[in-house]
Amino acid sequence: MSATAHARAKGLREIIEHHNHRYYVLDDPEIPDVEYDHLLRELQDLETHFPDLITPSSPTQRVGARPLAKFSEARHELPMLSLDNAFSEAELRAFDLRLCDKLNIEQAEYVAEPKLDGLAVSLLYEEGELVRAATRGDGTTGEDITQNARTIDSIPLRLLGQDWPKRLEVRGEVFMPRAGFDELNARARKNGEKTFANPRNAAAGSLRQLDPQVTATRPLAIYCYSVGLASDALPSKHYASLLKLKDWGLRVSPLVKQVSGVEACLQYYQDIGKQRSALPYDIDGVVYKINRLDQQTALGFVSRAPRWAIAHKFPAEEALTVLTEVEFQVGRTGALTPVARLEPIEVGGVTVSNATLHNMDEVERKDIRIGDTVIVRRAGDVIPEVVSVVLAKRPKSARKIKMPTHCPICESVVLRQEDEAAARCTGGLYCSAQRKEAIKHFVSRRALDIEGLGKKLVDQLVDNGLVEHVDDIYNLTLEQLAGLERMAEKSALNLLQALEKSKATTLARFVYALGIREVGEATARSLALHFGSLQAISAANEEALLEVQDIGPIVAAHLQAFFQEPHNREITESLQKAGIHWEENLPDLTQALPLQGKTYVLTGTLPGIKRDEAKARLQALGAKVSSSVSKKTTAVIAGEKAGSKRSKAESLGVEILNEQALIALINGE
Ligand code: IVH
Repeated sequence: MSATAHARAKGLREIIEHHNHRYYVLDDPEIPDVEYDHLLRELQDLETHFPDLITPSSPTQRVGARPLAKFSEARHELPMLSLDNAFSEAELRAFDLRLCDKLNIEQAEYVAEPKLDGLAVSLLYEEGELVRAATRGDGTTGEDITQNARTIDSIPLRLLGQDWPKRLEVRGEVFMPRAGFDELNARARKNGEKTFANPRNAAAGSLRQLDPQVTATRPLAIYCYSVGLASDALPSKHYASLLKLKDWGLRVSPLVKQVSGVEACLQYYQDIGKQRSALPYDIDGVVYKINRLDQQTALGFVSRAPRWAIAHKFPAEEALTVLTEVEFQVGRTGALTPVARLEPIEVGGVTVSNATLHNMDEVERKDIRIGDTVIVRRAGDVIPEVVSVVLAKRPKSARKIKMPTHCPICESVVLRQEDEAAARCTGGLYCSAQRKEAIKHFVSRRALDIEGLGKKLVDQLVDNGLVEHVDDIYNLTLEQLAGLERMAEKSALNLLQALEKSKATTLARFVYALGIREVGEATARSLALHFGSLQAISAANEEALLEVQDIGPIVAAHLQAFFQEPHNREITESLQKAGIHWEENLPDLTQALPLQGKTYVLTGTLPGIKRDEAKARLQALGAKVSSSVSKKTTAVIAGEKAGSKRSKAESLGVEILNEQALIALINGE
């Protein structure tokens, strides 16, 4: 082995350790990843050539150990204690009072720290090298998880600097950041494996893997929060020793703070509480520790917890309750969201009785049923959600959740596109849940371009009940408009003029204005050009739609869904009745519709099909649907209990069809 190789390996190790520290501990890398990869590769190559160069704490040796049959026991020379909890301000004040009393001081000096939600570990460094890592276990004996701890990048294999005690035991919390947890669960789901309930369980499960190769793939991190054993004297204050740990390359939370007196503790609790939901990892409270070690010693311990520290807990972000019902909310874009009604429960400090279920994919994935006992989570100001089901508590009477076939607001058909998680109401123009958005789009500049009808005015018109559906805007009167807040008569007049002017438009603008999903301006133009009339567009089947430039099966499906919905047809008709018009560019007659020129009358009840739907389907095929029978009527479609219209048809010799014949007709048979 050459002396230069030896020197280079040593140099590389130091450089890599430095960059590891910058990256994993300080979150402040100095060099780009590729450059770091180069350095590591060079060291790996050297070590492959000269295996004698390999040291156990080389940065190349984090993973490598083989799976264990079982963990060996690790005894703690100094027991690993737990903490007493304060669940309220009053409990904290009592704690502080007791301490000040015992120490005979006016005001105590504390170190306030976030209480991380992971698991406690002990790291033992000898001569600056990590020689053992252990879990807390029962406080006296834990498990030896050295091989696994070595795979955690933010745990240094070797301490930085020189002035560390020859034997140093450090304690800290190993945890899994939320993003890593979400990814891990997503991966597990994809592979059909079991998912973890929360980041804490995931961290514990990952650290207690017998195969360190598995642990190495888990996104674990550490924050160190105290010194256990030390062979040499350390600073006389807790905060100063945390700074020492930082110097030696150990990761300490940047949120740790020295505070004086209980009021400052409470302020810290408030501050961290506000940051809680934005932190990239879970915390379940804050910890206050007496800063001076001599005072800690004076206070001592009670059973398993120190008298000089306390955990001040945040309200739990998760709670168990029963899901009593599921309702569907319709959003502004028509998306139906399943919402769970819950037996009221306190979560995150407030009473929660509703929680989102996101969409039906989530409902199915989590196998949530009505009657289930569920875990509800409310983090920060985020909308409460149902996280999972406690299957063991599922009652026999539990019912599956079903997506409604019709919109709970407007009764239009609900459709779900194959590639979409959300199911949507197809009553875009008609549905009151989508009303404001639909109107705003309709009047916008690139649609019907109605000047003076801005978003705020639309809100006002809808809120005051002057406009229910988009066609109502053409019935507005000067009186109604001038009566609105901040609307001068002049502006009201201008608006009426703009409305009048907007009636002369183009087919492309009108189609775009309808707000059909994924039908933008370009698509609307292609449709207008290709079909030449609204009648033809609305009657086109999938095959015909696919012939249009740029229209694929998804847009074709959206178009068909829109025009098959009777409510939408009603509104487009009514808009035309109000006077909206454009120049028709009738397409060539080869595209004539199968029922063009025919007139039908529907009468009686049709058990198999709604009257509206039958009407729309006939119209889509080019037929007229009239309400009165005459000699010109092609046929009367008579359902059950058909009365005078049927007799009139008989007397005029007009053909009478039953429901079956109607279905055959609209199916093109
Ligand atoms: S100090 C003697 N500080 O909380 C004091 N513990 O409920 C021992 N924990 O087992 C612990 N963050 O796993 C301390 N900043 C922090 C902590 C913390 C989380 C955990 C630790 C401990 C448990 C006690």
